Order: sequence, then structure tokens, then C-alpha cells
Amino acid sequence: MLITSMPTPSNDPSPTPDQLPNNAPAPLAGRRVRAAIIGIGAIGGGSHLPALARLAEEGETEVVAAVDIDADAVAKFCAEHGIPHGYTDLDRMLAEVRPDLVSICTPPTLHRDQTVAALRAGAWVWCEKPPVPTLADFDAVEAEEGAETGGPYASIVFQHRFGSGARHVRKLLAEGSLGRPLVAHCQTTWYRDTAYYAVPWRGRWATEGGGPAMGHGIHQMDLLLDLLGPWSEVRAMAGRLVHDVETEDVSTALVRFESGALATVVNSVLSPDEVSRIRVDCERATVELTHLYGHSNADWSVTPAPGTSDADAAAWRDFGEDVPSSHVAQLRELVASMRAGERPCSSGADGRMSLELIAALYKSAFTDATVRRGEIGPGDPFHTAMHGGAPGWAPGTAQVSAGAGSGAANPAGTSEEISA
Ligand SMILES: NC(=O)c1ccc[n+]([C@@H]2O[C@H](COP(=O)([O-])OP(=O)(O)OC[C@H]3O[C@@H](n4cnc5c(N)ncnc54)[C@H](O)[C@@H]3O)[C@@H](O)[C@H]2O)c1
Repeated sequence: MLITSMPTPSNDPSPTPDQLPNNAPAPLAGRRVRAAIIGIGAIGGGSHLPALARLAEEGETEVVAAVDIDADAVAKFCAEHGIPHGYTDLDRMLAEVRPDLVSICTPPTLHRDQTVAALRAGAWVWCEKPPVPTLADFDAVEAEEGAETGGPYASIVFQHRFGSGARHVRKLLAEGSLGRPLVAHCQTTWYRDTAYYAVPWRGRWATEGGGPAMGHGIHQMDLLLDLLGPWSEVRAMAGRLVHDVETEDVSTALVRFESGALATVVNSVLSPDEVSRIRVDCERATVELTHLYGHSNADWSVTPAPGTSDADAAAWRDFGEDVPSSHVAQLRELVASMRAGERPCSSGADGRMSLELIAALYKSAFTDATVRRGEIGPGDPFHTAMHGGAPGWAPGTAQVSAGAGSGAANPAGTSEEISA
């Protein structure tokens, strides 16, 4: 349903829908990127709208439509922010407004269908994490991209990869200045109380796609992979120690990287002293990031090994102008990729890598096996469901006794470690 329609303030020279082939992105030269926000809740209103508004100030974007199933909310949102068109129907918005870019800020189970609809309408997509509930969903989305025609592409929101700190450390690691990375720790130890999980859709595979590995730790794991490159194998445990949830509420994993580096990964919602942390010990220095929901230069430290020259230490510690990690930092790069007609960061294989690690973490934890990168493909139960149908973890499966391949439900919320 079209909720509201106001004259657009811009002098919009973009082609009308009937001037374009069905899914061809419209040329962007000499004009703003016309963006639509789908889902105007916490992240849509709190992060995507401000990021798009910031780039609008720089002449790069304009928000031309918003979509939400809540008709009153979308009408109010459009009126408050001067957005010309509000809809409750995504398909109708895509057909009538024909945006260049769609920000998907809805719950994860909607991401696949909404991303595919937008790509088929010729719009690039910037989709919130977690990208989609399963690897099969991700592969289905990737198949809809215009990889042969310079777009449209679907990029996942992983804003922690962006900003001056991540860029500086990625460069130091890539050029080998710090020597080989040897040992890493990746920690998302957060706290969520009983009231948080009282909301019916939380802690359920069908609605959240996973527990803290999927919903909370994905950002730090994605950044770890972005810094260290491809992983090769994982061994994991998962537990349901406190909350009345189908998914895990804590997981631990050991990860080997192709480079040979070894890492520990902890994802928890049971940790009163909350922190997000990545630490990488290299031959010549330790690099550490300590923050909670976003980082700036001051959150990074570099500790040189004994014998390092003052000049090297100073260069490693020079992060340049402070650009905090943020949605706007990622959006700026995405819009540049759109204008260049290039695959954006955090799409395709680059956007899939943390989802694959999470699927492997779950498979390892629920089957008591070492899982290698690339082994979860079509035909593997963990390709189509993060719980992989594992007894004690898949919805509706009976609790089984502890042992290899088991995960035990803990509906009473008693303190019982579950591992496979
Ligand atoms: N990148 C980050 O740091 C970060 C932080 C928080 C949330 N998120 C992610 O953002 C997404 C949304 O989370 P949120 O906290 O904003 O949720 P939310 O519940 O606050 O907002 C979701 C919005 O989507 C709307 N909606 C639901 N079904 C819809 C449909 N079919 N069509 C259009 N709109 C629909 C809802 O009415 C609501 O307004 C999730 O995937 C979440 O994991 C990312």
C-alpha cells in the first residue's frame, strides 16, 4: 500500500521505470543515489537514515522512500524526515519508485526475499547483518546479483570493518610489517538478561537464525576474518547455560587460519563485564582492539616486540585521522562502488565468509567434529539450517544425553554446560 506521497524536493533526472530494462541499474553519473529504507525500526531509523542523511549533505544520496509493515509508523517517519514516499508494500515501492539502493533493516528471516526482490528490480542492496539465516539462502541471493553487468550487488552491513583503525591494521598485516600473525583472540562477551529473551522471537532458530554466534559475535568474527584472511578449520563447543532458548547462549571455538595462525573465538550473552575484543599476536607486535559496539583510533593498541626500532613502533601506532567504525564509513565506500559499477566490499564471497564460519562453528559444536572451510555445501544439513537438524538443538528435537553429537535443551534455565 502507498501510504504517503509528496513531491520529491530534488530535480531527479533518473530514468523512469519504463525507460529501463527490468533489472538494469540506472546510470548514476551526475546525480544522487536514490535510496529507500526497508524497516524503520531501531537500526533503520537510528543508523541507516543518519548515514544516508550524512551522505546527502555531501551531495551523494537522497532518501526517496521508506517501507514498513506499520502504516502509521511509516507515515510519521516520512513526514518527520521529509521522505517523499512511504509504503507498506516493498514490491509496489520497487516498481513505482525504482530506487538505486535499498537499505534492508528488517528482521533476518525477511532478508533473503527482500534482497532478491530489490536485486530483481535493479536496486543495489545494503542489508543488515546477519545477512540471511543460512548459507543456502546466501547462495540464492548471490545468484541474483548482476555480477556480469556491473551490478546490482548485495552488500552486508559489517560496519566494524570500516574506519581508520581497521584499515590501518589490515594494511599492516597485509604488507607483513608486523611479521606473521601467530595467535589471535576474538571475543564478543556481552550480557543479555531474562527480559531480553522474554520477547517470543528471540533465541529461536526460525526467527533469529542462531544465538550469540549469529546475532552478536558475527561483527567481531567478520572483522577477525577481514584482518587475518581465510580460515581453514574449526573445532567448537556450544552451551545453553542460562536462558530458555532454542539456540545456544554461549559458544567457544578454536580456529586455524590458512596462514597457520591459531585463534580462539568466544561468543556469549552471559558476561556482565561486557567487551568486544580482538587481539592478534604477530612476530613483531601485538595488536589489540577493545571496545563494545564500535571503535575509533583510541580503542586500538600496538605493543611492539623487544628490539623494535622507535621509528617502526611510531609508524605502527600512527593510525592517521580518526575515522570511527560506523554505518556512514561503510556506506561511503558502497556508494563509491555503485558509481564505479564494481562489486562492493562485504558482498559475494567477501560477505559470506563470517556466515560460513558460523555455520561451521555450529556444525562442529553439534556434531563433535572438526569442520573444514568449504565442506558445508548443498546436501549438508548445515547448508540449509544453522542447527543442522542436530538432536537437542534443532527445534522440536528431544533432549539427548550428553556425549558426542548431542546438545541438551535446558528449558528450566538451570546452569548446565552443553557441549559436543
Ligand atoms: N549493524 C548493527 O550493529 C546492528 C544493530 C542492531 C540491529 N541490527 C540488525 O538490523 C536488523 C533490524 O533490527 P532492529 O533492531 O532495527 O529491529 P526492529 O524490530 O527495531 O526494526 C525492524 C523493523 O522492520 C519492520 N518490518 C517487519 N516486517 C517487515 C516487512 N515485511 N516489511 C517491512 N518492514 C518490516 C518492523 O515493523 C520494524 O519497524 C536485524 O537484522 C538486526 O540484527 C544490526
